[in-house]
Amino acid sequence: MRRLNAPARENVVLVGFMGSGKSSVGRLVARTLNGRFVDTDRLVVDRAGREITEIFATDGEGYFRQEEGRALRSLLGGSRLVVATGGGIVTVPENVTALKALGFVVWLTASEQIIWERVSRNKKRPLLHTENPRETVRALLEKRNPLYEAAADLKVETTLLTHAEVAERICEAVKKGR
Ligand code: S3P
Repeated sequence: MRRLNAPARENVVLVGFMGSGKSSVGRLVARTLNGRFVDTDRLVVDRAGREITEIFATDGEGYFRQEEGRALRSLLGGSRLVVATGGGIVTVPENVTALKALGFVVWLTASEQIIWERVSRNKKRPLLHTENPRETVRALLEKRNPLYEAAADLKVETTLLTHAEVAERICEAVKKGR
């Protein structure tokens, strides 16, 4: 795993599976680093004027991925951004290039059990509207973990940490490199 040697430390980019805490942690990191918090899911929803479940239902995952990539690329050139991304952003290879160009990429991981506990509380994730969502989580994690790993400069295992502790680790790593 590459560590702390990303070209652009100006921005922090959080990747990881659904329920890994990207948005909550991202807000805390932005506050500490005096940056601006941005969420690619939110950019897509705002531009479309529709919620993610509706976008998936009407236009499909391919359309969502296209819009997600567009949202990500719209951030290139920005500064002092803390960006939370959707869990599937790494599944499109061009997005990985953009993530790396955008900033210091941090992968938030958590145990499968914790992820499951978190995501099963909310029904807003269309990819988990399957007959066996628990198995879907397992299969998607297996497929995506290598992609997160390849994209990341830093990995933070969050299972036993609070959001504040995760944010603190990220801020320390960023400050060391600035
Ligand atoms: C997705 C994750 C979601 C959202 C969409 C697809 C995925 O974001 O982008 O439902 O493919 O894992 P979160 O990771 O913020 O839940």
